[in-house]
Amino acid sequence: MKIYYNKKDLNSYVEGLKINKKTIGFVPTMGALHLGHASLIEKGLKQNDFVVVSVFVNPTQFDSKEDLIKYPRTLDNDVKLLSSISKNKIVAYAPSVEDIYGNHVKSTSFSYDGLEHEMEGRFRSGHFDGVGTIVKRLFEIVRPDKAYFGEKDFQQLMIIKKLVEKHHIPVKVVGCKIHRATDGLAMSSRNSRLKPEYRKVAPFIFKTLKTAKEKFDGNSANKVTEWIENQFAKHDLLELEYFIIADIDTLRTVKRKSNKKTYRAFIAVYADDIRLIDNIALN
Ligand code: PAF
Repeated sequence: MKIYYNKKDLNSYVEGLKINKKTIGFVPTMGALHLGHASLIEKGLKQNDFVVVSVFVNPTQFDSKEDLIKYPRTLDNDVKLLSSISKNKIVAYAPSVEDIYGNHVKSTSFSYDGLEHEMEGRFRSGHFDGVGTIVKRLFEIVRPDKAYFGEKDFQQLMIIKKLVEKHHIPVKVVGCKIHRATDGLAMSSRNSRLKPEYRKVAPFIFKTLKTAKEKFDGNSANKVTEWIENQFAKHDLLELEYFIIADIDTLRTVKRKSNKKTYRAFIAVYADDIRLIDNIALN
């Protein structure tokens, strides 16, 4: 399997595919690949001739230096996983920070019509400017026909769609269902850092989301939120950062339910110093 470490070499490869009228699927990642990534890549392979997977821990989207330093970096294992899926239809792009940012490791400021101010935007300052900066740059380098993003980062998915629309980027953004471990925990690169006692209790997050979905049918959003907050207040190991029921178009917290709208519940939880997020469709 081919790995490109700089954009110049990747560009020549992409140019060759374009000349031969081959379609390109793109899965941007920060590495520490897991079965969730594998499912995006497999979807990409079904819908395109080739798939480019970028592996780049993007410094500008971290609001905490410590989190950036501790983020798992496992390129050798990532390449093994990619090769096990396909040796000749997948290429990896694993650039250095310099290849992407030169000497200017800064994000551009983006407006996503307010989507950036909700949920993650409130708790992780500058996060979506960093995400927009890297994803736009990667789209310019990889020039994909389709790009695949998981619904675990649902707000990110909505923001990327907005980015593409506002900047007229010629790529189709495809959202993919959350991939879960058998005990329900949403797959995430951060899971590999969970200590065993925290990994054991982490499925509580999805379990409570499922109950919230059941309760949402006959209760107000406030009541469901209160119930969730109580569940976590009683929990010894997991600390709730937020639980929000939001309208999926605006991502604004719902005040009064309307049966014309579609809602999702979003949650962020600390398991020790590891921040886990998840979400569930409610109606
Ligand atoms: O979801 C991620 O892993 C990252 O936010 C992304 C989209 C690869 C940008 O760095």
